[in-house]
Amino acid sequence: MKIFSGSSNKNLAENIAAHLELTLSPVEIFVFPDGEKRVQIQDTVVDEDVILVQSTNPSVNENYMELFLLLDGLKRSGARTINLVMPYIGYQRQDHVFRDGEAVSLAVVLHILESLKVDNVIYVDPHTIKLPEFFNISNRDLSALPLFAKVIEKNDWKNADTILVSPDLGGLRRIKIMSEMLDSMPWIATVKDRDLDTGSIVINRFEGPLPVAELNGKRAIIVDDMTSSGGTLIESAEFLKDHGVTEIVTFVTHPVFSSDAPQKLQKSFIDKLFVTDSVYVPDNKKFTKLEILSISDMIANELKK
Ligand code: R5P
Repeated sequence: MKIFSGSSNKNLAENIAAHLELTLSPVEIFVFPDGEKRVQIQDTVVDEDVILVQSTNPSVNENYMELFLLLDGLKRSGARTINLVMPYIGYQRQDHVFRDGEAVSLAVVLHILESLKVDNVIYVDPHTIKLPEFFNISNRDLSALPLFAKVIEKNDWKNADTILVSPDLGGLRRIKIMSEMLDSMPWIATVKDRDLDTGSIVINRFEGPLPVAELNGKRAIIVDDMTSSGGTLIESAEFLKDHGVTEIVTFVTHPVFSSDAPQKLQKSFIDKLFVTDSVYVPDNKKFTKLEILSISDMIANELKK
């Protein structure tokens, strides 16, 4: 078995390789002055089972194109099977037609992966809960929620002073699972409306079984699949503060961190932000409230099956 990495998250790939007692096989990724890439697989893969690690965080288009070239290079070089580890699958937002004339980007991406003969895809906390159904090839849906639950227990936050929060209605299934994992911890959701034209977010009401009056004086733990602009977490945190919450901890699987999200999150009401290494966070995007938890062992364990 051989393991390769694209350039989106080499740290994670190295850690997964270490758990598997492997080292990354060499690839050359050359960038032409106009931005085109040339990829060369620099190891023998004839009749080998190959693992390829590539997330599709910013720059999403670049990382996708690189992934497609790597897959093509591996198949042309004779790889027997390709197990693609793609912890964060970009382009999931557009999983159906919201408005007439829109492309379904998720369908496009999956068509390409299938046509490049990927044998299995391993991903973590997909944005679209129906993702497994969209695939026509073998795929494994992993979750960082058990890891988050462990951190919550370790910090002694599984108590009567703490509530779980979904920052939007799209996260209801996630927050209910989290609550079950933590012996039915109480939960509530802030309801997010997003303007599809401008992308701006408004949060001005709650939904869920917990009476709003019970938020007063509590610690809130917001759980989400990804943070990009940071807007969802920040607006949800602000609304919770307005309703008497005194401490806000957030757990997010994919730290996509577009533009100035790190600065905005650092300045926000959020006290602590836990994320995973599904997406590489460069040093210039790290901030003091941020703590990165590793999912490399979880992925390696899945690959050992
Ligand atoms: C939306 O449904 C997702 O679960 C996230 O809440 C959203 O993608 C976060 O985006 P942003 O950080 O830009 O608000």
